Amino acid sequence: MLKIENLTSHYGRIQALHGVSLEVNEGELVALVGGNGAGKTTLLRTISGLQAASGGSVSFEGKNITGLAAEKRVGLEIAQVPEGRQVFTALSVEDNIRLGAFTKSDKAAIAEDMEKMYARFPILKEKRKQAAGTLSGGQQQMLAMARALMSRPRLLLLDEPSMGLSPVLVMEIFSIVEELKEQGVTIFLVEQNATAALRVADRGYVMETGKISLTGTGDNLLNDDTVKAAYLGI
Ligand SMILES: Nc1ncnc2c1ncn2[C@@H]1O[C@H](COP(=O)(O)OP(=O)(O)OP(=O)(O)O)[C@@H](O)[C@H]1O
Ligand SMILES: [Mg+2]
Repeated sequence: MLKIENLTSHYGRIQALHGVSLEVNEGELVALVGGNGAGKTTLLRTISGLQAASGGSVSFEGKNITGLAAEKRVGLEIAQVPEGRQVFTALSVEDNIRLGAFTKSDKAAIAEDMEKMYARFPILKEKRKQAAGTLSGGQQQMLAMARALMSRPRLLLLDEPSMGLSPVLVMEIFSIVEELKEQGVTIFLVEQNATAALRVADRGYVMETGKISLTGTGDNLLNDDTVKAAYLGI
């Protein structure tokens, strides 16, 4: 579904991606783990077209989308939940969710999708009239996910959903990620929390300084000695 080949990207003269190649197949939950500054966010932003590629390619369902302008991406069915959630804190929970449907015009379908989000995230329904800034970190993560799901994506890109959350909330967010997968959404999950991510992932990639250093099934990577030493603190 998503195929990345030899992708490079720069910030000025600083190269952040050094030839990244990876694949996400339809229906999979694939994790990309790596430490601070490895290039995970840069990779997701390059897939979404928010960051320019300087070489290589990104294909989605066989179509080369490298460098495709934002306005040409409408209808591509890829949604990104950004690092740090980036909800609009002064807007209500409901308005934040509705913003996710900005490319849709069928009001009945939008209302139906909002009800689906409230069924999946009951706490958001309870707090729908409140400003998003009053939500806890975990609730804001759910809100960011609900907003992304309003576009009915087939591929969901998640950038460190566990960031800043307590272990209990991390488990809750990751079980939601697993449920989304069961419901047929293909997921590419980027995380510093390698343990939590690799536990739920079908396959994983390890990224170090802008390169993929290792790949395997989630279980293989969890049991890999170098991964254990570098990322799992075991
Ligand atoms: N706007 C920017 N300008 C210049 N350099 C940047 C910029 N954003 C990121 N970088 C650099 O690019 C490299 C990759 O950063 P990136 O944010 O993609 O890493 P990351 O894996 O997402 O890290 P984290 O887990 O901390 O979010 C780092 O060396 C970082 O300093
Ligand atoms: Mg990041």
